Amino acid sequence: MESHPVLNRLALLLTLVASVPTQGVGASPGVAQTGLSKRQSTVTRYCDNTQTPGLCYMESWHSVMPPPASIQPSTLVVRIAVPDGVSQGSPFQTVLQMVMPSYVKWAGFAWGGSMLNNPLMVFWWYNQTQPMVSSRWTSTRVSPGVYNDATYRILHTSQNASHWTAEVVCSGCSHWNGTSLKYNDSNAFKWALGVFDVVNPESLDTKTSYHNKVGVFSGNLSLARVPSDVFKKHIGEGGSPTPTPTTSWRVFPTFVPYPTSSP
Ligand code: HEM
Repeated sequence: MESHPVLNRLALLLTLVASVPTQGVGASPGVAQTGLSKRQSTVTRYCDNTQTPGLCYMESWHSVMPPPASIQPSTLVVRIAVPDGVSQGSPFQTVLQMVMPSYVKWAGFAWGGSMLNNPLMVFWWYNQTQPMVSSRWTSTRVSPGVYNDATYRILHTSQNASHWTAEVVCSGCSHWNGTSLKYNDSNAFKWALGVFDVVNPESLDTKTSYHNKVGVFSGNLSLARVPSDVFKKHIGEGGSPTPTPTTSWRVFPTFVPYPTSSP
């Protein structure tokens, strides 16, 4: 029988809201994946030696959406790194890395663990070629507006056959509205993923689409701390070696588009 793109999309959306058992898919060495709930995962520490200089991150794995078998695994990994030696209350820069299935059209992150009244990051790409990161804020549950008190810079993007990765550094995400990230204690973070394009992908102030999945994790930033000189080098401040150039999106021939038919 011939497949119908609209029905298939509807079927996929229905599947997205269904319960998803979380398990380690495409697990990387050293990352134990055990019985996590669908919206909450444990955190661990992960060190990446493939970049120069590589960082260690607080890392949280989530099984996000059940895609057709052809594009499994369907994993979201969120990684956060911060410089060491910060006293509680002082502002600090934060590195955020998100790895997600190729069919995800935009990724969001809430530094204060809520959609509301905290710095939000939204990442997407324009034309599959241009990475876009936008600083957002909202006090109501509508598409968040631009937030000028936090700024982001893209450090790195990459893609393989099933997932894409974006890494950004933020100035202004550790403090907001008289509150701050707890440098020595546990923080709740939330993420959001959309499988439909933002409204105007070419504009940094575009409205987003509604998310298809949100999730949460908590972790102590002690798991995210790295020596401040390494942190600075990684973000391109503080001398050589400079980080991998970051402003161009690599188009891979194996790019997996949002599925329009079931396997
Ligand atoms: C058209 C745009 C958007 C609308 C209408 C919207 C609306 C909503 C609504 C109604 C909820 C609560 C129900 C639920 O959990 O699904 C929610 C949750 C959430 N949204 Fe959005 N949202 C939008 C865009 C965004 C964006 C761009 C982000 C970026 C980070 C985001 C982050 C979150 C997060 C983290 C949650 C879960 C935490 C919470 O409930 O506060 N949203 N959103």
